[in-house]
Formats: sequence, structure tokens, C-alpha cells
Amino acid sequence: MSALIFLGGLRLFAAEPWWQHALFYEIYPRSFQDSNGDGIGDLNGIARRLDYVKSLGANAIWLTPVYPSPQVDFGYDISDYEAIDPQYGTMADFDRFVAEAHARGIRVIMDMVLNHTSDKHKWFIESRSSRNNPKRDWYIWRDGRGPGKPPNNWLSDFGHTAWTYDPHTGQWYYHKFYSAQPDLNWRNPEVRKAMYDTMRFWMRKGVDGFRLDAITTLFEDIHLRDEPVLPGLNVYGDPNVQETLTNNLPEVHDVLRELRKVTDEFPGRVLIGETYLENIGDLRKMYGAHNDELQLPMDTQVGFINRLDVREFRRKINEAETELGGDMPLFVFDNHDNPRSWNRYGDGIHNEAIARVIATLLLASRAVAMAYYGEEIGMVTTPPARREDVRDPVGLVGWPKEKGRDGERTPMQWDTSRNAGFTTGTPWLPVPPNYIDVNVATESMRPESMLKWYEGLIKLRAGNAALRDGAEIMLNTSDYNVLSWLRKNPGAGPSVIVACNFTKLPQTVSFDLRTQGISATMARSLMDTGSAPLSHVSLPPFGVFVGEVR
Ligand code: GLC
Ligand code: CA
Repeated sequence: MSALIFLGGLRLFAAEPWWQHALFYEIYPRSFQDSNGDGIGDLNGIARRLDYVKSLGANAIWLTPVYPSPQVDFGYDISDYEAIDPQYGTMADFDRFVAEAHARGIRVIMDMVLNHTSDKHKWFIESRSSRNNPKRDWYIWRDGRGPGKPPNNWLSDFGHTAWTYDPHTGQWYYHKFYSAQPDLNWRNPEVRKAMYDTMRFWMRKGVDGFRLDAITTLFEDIHLRDEPVLPGLNVYGDPNVQETLTNNLPEVHDVLRELRKVTDEFPGRVLIGETYLENIGDLRKMYGAHNDELQLPMDTQVGFINRLDVREFRRKINEAETELGGDMPLFVFDNHDNPRSWNRYGDGIHNEAIARVIATLLLASRAVAMAYYGEEIGMVTTPPARREDVRDPVGLVGWPKEKGRDGERTPMQWDTSRNAGFTTGTPWLPVPPNYIDVNVATESMRPESMLKWYEGLIKLRAGNAALRDGAEIMLNTSDYNVLSWLRKNPGAGPSVIVACNFTKLPQTVSFDLRTQGISATMARSLMDTGSAPLSHVSLPPFGVFVGEVR
């Protein structure tokens, strides 16, 4: 909710919330910067790198989980929601990190895992102790369909049945993710209250909001009906099922409204959702019928198209522009769960140019942007070569078809020193060999580097009125090679055109902007020097043009 400000006691207007045009920078703490030589990144390490985050132009850090955890799913299995895992530091380190971030104008977003806890959390330990323990109903316990038979056909996202048998009480517990991550029962009001209080705890400490993990999976069908079976097998060798009874149930929205009330108790906080959804209509609902749910549900429909298809991007970006009721979309291409966009979109030959296209789609659109550490220097996915090197449970279960997510979690590449400057010890995941060229220190000296491209676009989107606030209007909509759009200045100032060549051949495009009320015949390039006639904008293979028009 935006703050109301009185001006001269007379005028009343809604100030724009700080996140409205923000760039969120996702940090995977294990992999960003180690400060004590144990090979694992930590809070003091991140604090040391805050000036870098600031110079990049990020407005907020999303910190993936730093709570105490057995680290089965590297922090997404939380055993205490109100403390810091000693691997990452102390609560004093955390407080200092937040203070230092705030001193630089950088907000801090915590990851909040509401769907499940660790099986080592005291609530679960109590819950499994007996069928009539007061915490029994905090989790989802059911009888099987017979000896050795789980209650139904529901599958874990991490492979195989979503139920684990507990011989002690002779019942099964449900886990959407790994067996060490039992799902909480969100129909139990005590669970809700406990979690809301946890969030208040962190907001009192000054955190600026939450990224809600796996938020669509809070509820399951109360009747435990089987999910519809689809043809074929998944990567784990299980029959495919359609996730209609364990994902995106309508009850999620009741919780989102409650969550919003809780965060609105603390002005200026933001709720971001991990919302992998099928279509724009479902995404729209996440904002709430009265804008009373999430401020920023992630739009995963644009960033994970996973092929450079002009028509798909045009359609999806346009949907975000026109079908979210004017709310800001949140675009994201990279995170700790997916192979890096470098590899998902790269063709193996023009990867660097393609990465610039991706950066442009992310940063020159009318959207809040989310970047994942290392994306800005062009880090590549480096999956483990041997099963014995795998750390991620997804890879352990899915090997060899599914190698897991280690490949996109490798240490941040800072400089050319040993271990890329990440640690003086042995890094928990190997540093990719390309760090010699692909690193912050080297790229900050090279005007042509990926880092400079990101910095340039980030600066532009913050300072240029059209790129900041202008409506996004698709241009040349029957062109299948080049994606072009206009960011129309909301006032009288210049607008911006953006053209991205999605092909390996040079392309030429021409623009007639008269229907947009723009009579210019020349565009002044904003990303390097020079200008181009609007009748003849030439683009090299996978080239990008960003130009100002009057
Ligand atoms: C989310 C996280 C992922 C985690 C899963 C279970 O998808 O991003 O890393 O494994 O939830 O918590
Ligand atoms: Ca460390």
C-alpha cells in the first residue's frame, strides 16, 4: 500500500511505493562471498560486497533462506524460523548486514517458506511423536490405502510419491517437496498464526518484505482425490499427473489476503510471490481482486519461454502490459532453480549477444526486474559431471536425467584470483573454469562487457522517464525476426524505441511512429553513441537498438 503524504496540509496524493520500479537482486548466500574460509558464503561476505550491489544499481536484495536448517534443500528446509544458521553468521551479523544495506539505500527481502518446515523443526518432531499430540494436525497425516500403499497418487516435485510412511504412528505425512520437508496444514488456524508472527518478527527487525516460497502449494484437496494421470513418465520415471489437486487451490487467496494484512501493519513492506502459473489470468488473481494480495507475484511466463520466439515474447509481454489491470509485472529470467538464461536461450555460438537481448527484455520493459547474482556478468550453468559430486536433492533423486540445480548455484565470480575471489578455502561447489575471463573485476574494466551492458541498462531505466514509466507498446507486430516496442513518454518528453534481433542474420527494421503521435525520423541511440534513421535501423545478429525519439 502506498504511503499517503500531506503537502502543505492541503494536497493529498499517494507517493509511489519504493518497489514500483525496483531492480531486485537475488543472492544465494552460500555462493556469493565467503568471509571465514569455510568454503560457504555468509552474511559478512555479502555485507562486504554491498558496494558492488549498490554500484550495479540494485534497489533491493532478495536473500534466499539463511535460517537454521539441516541444509537438505540448502535452507528451504527450515528448522527454526527466528534465527540465523551459524554457517551464515549470527543474528548480530544479520542485523549489521541489514543496517549496512539500508545505509546504502538497499532494501532487504527475506525468503519465507510457508508451505513446509524441515522434518527437524520442533513442530514436526512433536507432530510425529503421537497421533494425539497437539501439533499432530499442524501437518498432513493420513492412513495409507493398505500396507505399503500411500493415501493417493500425489507426487513430490522432487520425484516419486509425496507421502512418507512413519512407522512410529503408522501413518503417512505429505510433502510436496523432499521427504525432509513435511507440508504444514494451512487449514489449521494455529499454523497460520505462528507463521504470521514469524513474519512480524522479521519486519520488526527491519526487513522490507518477503519472497513467498512455493506459495501456490499451500493447500491440497481435502478429500485426497487422486490427481488425473497423463500419458508418459516424468524425469524421475513416475507417471505424469496433472497438478490440479495440490497446486493453486482457491484457498491460497484467503491466505494471501491475510498475509497482506500482516505486512500492511508495517508500512513500506512488499510481498513477492514465487508464482509459476499457467496463464495471465491466474497471475492477475495473485494481485487480489482489490489489490489486497501480493504486490509482486513473479511473472514466470515471459522469462521461461525458453526459446527466442518473437511471437511468444510479443504476446506474453503484451499480456503483462495489458491484462494485469495496470499493476506492475515482475519479470525474471534467472533464479536458483533453473539453468541460467545464458544456457536456456543461448545457441552455443552467439550466447553473449543473446544474453544482451535477454537483459534488454528484462530491463527495458515496463516491469519490476529481478536479476540473479552472476547473471549480470554472464555466468554459465555448470552442472556436476559425476553423481558423487551432486549436492542438490533434485539431482540426487533424478540422476542422470535430472542433474539438479547445482549448476546454477556455483560461486560468484569476483576476480581472477584463486577460487574467483569467492573463498580462501575449498568452495562448496566448484568455481567454473571460465572465471578467468568472466568476473566482476575484469568486466568492470572492459567497456564492452556484459556487466557494463547491465549497468548501462539499469541506469537508463532508473533515469529515463519513458523507460521508467512509459507504456509499453509493441511495434511492427507482424515481424517474426525482430521484437520491437515503444516506451511512450508519459509526459511531453522523448519516448524510447527498443528493437531486438532474435535471429543469427543481420536485420533491418523501419518504424513509422506517426500513429503514436511521434513525428521523429531519427532515433538517438542510448546505449552507445550515434543515431539511426527510423526508416532504416540495422541490427547485427542478435543485435539490440535502444534509441530515443522526439
Ligand atoms: C522453491 C524454491 C526451491 C525449493 C522449493 C522447496 O521452489 O525456490 O529452491 O527447493 O521451493 O522449498
Ligand atoms: Ca563462510
